[in-house]
Amino acid sequence: MQRYKDPEGKDKMNPFAEQEAWEEHQIGKSKLEFGSKDRKRSSNEYQFVFDDQIDFVKSSVIEGTQFEDDSDQETIDAKDILKRELQDERKTLPIYKFRDELLKAVDEYQVIVIVGETGSGKTTQIPQYLHEAGYTARGKVACTQPRRVAAMSVAARVSQEMGVKLGHEVGYSIRFEDCTSEKTMIKYMTDGMLLREFLGEPDLAGYSVVMVDEAHERTLSTDILFGLVKDIARFRPDLKLLISSATLDAEKFSDYFDSAPIFKIPGRRYPVEVHYTKAPEADYIDAAIVTILQIHVTQPPGDILVFLTGQEEIETVDEILKHKTRGLGTKIPELNICPIYANLPTELQAKIFEITPEGSRKVVLATNIAETSLTIDGIKYVIDPGFCKIKSYNPRTGMESLLINPISKASANQRAGRSGRTGPGKCFRLYTSYNYMHDLEDNTVPEIQRTNLANVVLTLKSLGIHDLVNFDFMDPPPSEALLKALEQLFALSALNSRGELTKTGRRMAEFPLDPMLSKMIVASEKYKCSDEVMSIASMLSIGNSIFYRPKDKQVHADNARLNFHTGNVGDHIALLNVYNSWRETDFSTQWCYENYIQVRSMKRARDIRDQLEGLMERVEIEVCSNASDLDAIKKAITSGFFHHSARLQKNGSYRTVKNPQTVFIHPSSGLAQLLPRWVIYHELVLTTKEYMRQVTELKPEWLVEIAPHYYQLKDVDDAGSKKLPKGQGRAAL
Ligand code: CDP
Ligand code: MG
Repeated sequence: MQRYKDPEGKDKMNPFAEQEAWEEHQIGKSKLEFGSKDRKRSSNEYQFVFDDQIDFVKSSVIEGTQFEDDSDQETIDAKDILKRELQDERKTLPIYKFRDELLKAVDEYQVIVIVGETGSGKTTQIPQYLHEAGYTARGKVACTQPRRVAAMSVAARVSQEMGVKLGHEVGYSIRFEDCTSEKTMIKYMTDGMLLREFLGEPDLAGYSVVMVDEAHERTLSTDILFGLVKDIARFRPDLKLLISSATLDAEKFSDYFDSAPIFKIPGRRYPVEVHYTKAPEADYIDAAIVTILQIHVTQPPGDILVFLTGQEEIETVDEILKHKTRGLGTKIPELNICPIYANLPTELQAKIFEITPEGSRKVVLATNIAETSLTIDGIKYVIDPGFCKIKSYNPRTGMESLLINPISKASANQRAGRSGRTGPGKCFRLYTSYNYMHDLEDNTVPEIQRTNLANVVLTLKSLGIHDLVNFDFMDPPPSEALLKALEQLFALSALNSRGELTKTGRRMAEFPLDPMLSKMIVASEKYKCSDEVMSIASMLSIGNSIFYRPKDKQVHADNARLNFHTGNVGDHIALLNVYNSWRETDFSTQWCYENYIQVRSMKRARDIRDQLEGLMERVEIEVCSNASDLDAIKKAITSGFFHHSARLQKNGSYRTVKNPQTVFIHPSSGLAQLLPRWVIYHELVLTTKEYMRQVTELKPEWLVEIAPHYYQLKDVDDAGSKKLPKGQGRAAL
């Protein structure tokens, strides 16, 4: 087992350099050579499956710490299990043997760091042990998860184990979805939600135990939680804190929490054979598909877990696999494809936990979520392309982007380990051992050092924490990023010149949204269009999954979509049109089908909107509609997003107004052909180019009118339109 070094901090953070170094190695590919016996079978019988094959070399074995063999326990179909059987199953988990010892330690110490192999039972068992030991009589037990899917699925599992209805004694809380009740004693929640709970209850009085789980992930919210729970633990001696983590950097957590004792749960892990490609792969998606098929036709039974970077990749692989395995005949067992990613609807998520029927093989296509947060039984093969999506932030330009980056060695080893849970496993790395040794960092840089901090700063300020520089960060963020966040909040009028929260800032903090979105909502009061702006904000919060564009009906789908853009109103108003049209049909599903709109996304938008409407009452903003005045709506949007303005260049590209960067209108935008002179955008996405997504036309004078402390006249000095009479700012090129 690899020992990891502590993260080495911000100096190492240059994703671009990493990316380049990595790409240098991505050249060419060659032929298949599995085990010799298997190869024969594959090349004779199933040759037709592979056009190109991949050469793997077995390079190392990650040693398993063999546990007594009580592991072959089958998971039982959720529907027909009796509670008693589940109770028996609980006893087979590695953590069970340490139950009493663990409870004794919790009793004795206020803070404990818990380390244990993924799947040992930390997340599902510890809160139950605490409940059984009576902690829930004094307050709720909170268990935080970095990911929504994990919070939901773990809560579902634990409610089953306890034989209670989800949302009653055991519940979960994620942004825009609260599945808890008065009765709830064990509450799984995203780390971000617990952070928000501090706003209403700064001492977390309703909780007797807080378990910060998956601490090794070091998400932004987890890092901030560390500082806050450490602080409240000082004046709440009755509050127990558990910091649990899958990797071995426990000393760092222990040091931070004033030398808290470390409780180690020996893992149950079998040896894992690691295979590398002989040569680098030019296209990891392609390589992953080929490898899945190779394993499927050449390797003994056992499920496959593939790590991909996001929903789009997962959908692509899903589609290609379905296509390639169609009509393979009866000789080859069935391949059940199960995707899992954060936005996957709940009912489909359960599929990954279903037992694979005899004679077939399951292939789970997952994002990083399956690295540590979710344990899927029966996985024997792991395919690791070596990439994940990582957020990076440039404090100089204030730009944030999600980039596909090489993973760290720590991640690679976590991924490999997922194949050795119930028996010896194999991990196929779609990169060379040279890449592994020389190109991968030891650890992923904590999110706090590579993200926009505006949201966090606003939250901390509303918690009354003013001195951010001296906040007890485990790894402090770059001071440049802190400064940028303060500047941004000042420009949004959330802070005054002394850095204190303003009334606008206090209202903004009530919304569980990015400060720019919450400012847009708060500003809608002034422009008397809160009804419209709330709808737009909800639609923007859904992300990129509103329009549906099936491959065989692209023209129809595009036409349907253009209908919402009539009058070249811009993407924000088009989203509003979609929402309002749907509302007019009384939220009809049929209407969604007819218009190539994803009904699930729309329902989510409606839920979010309902919640925003509830919050409007809290901040005392009247809900009123001003549908005919599009300029008013656009001005409200500009009030939040004036940082995101760009001006057209002669060559059809755009230049962002402050911190000039070259950007383009995303081809999916309704304005992609029109190229207005000035635009405001919701976000930048980097694919082949830096694209602006969700774009609306802007009058440059609005910038000075709305954000006079951020823009001066010279910024919006526009030679081409200056002499035109007012209202005709949109001169042709
Ligand atoms: O947190 P840790 O990784 O230590 O383990 P866990 O998530 O508590 O998982 C313990 C066991 O519960 C594993 O064997 C999982 O297969 C099972 N589990 C499950 O069946 N369904 C879930 N949604 C979560 C866990
Ligand atoms: Mg866990």
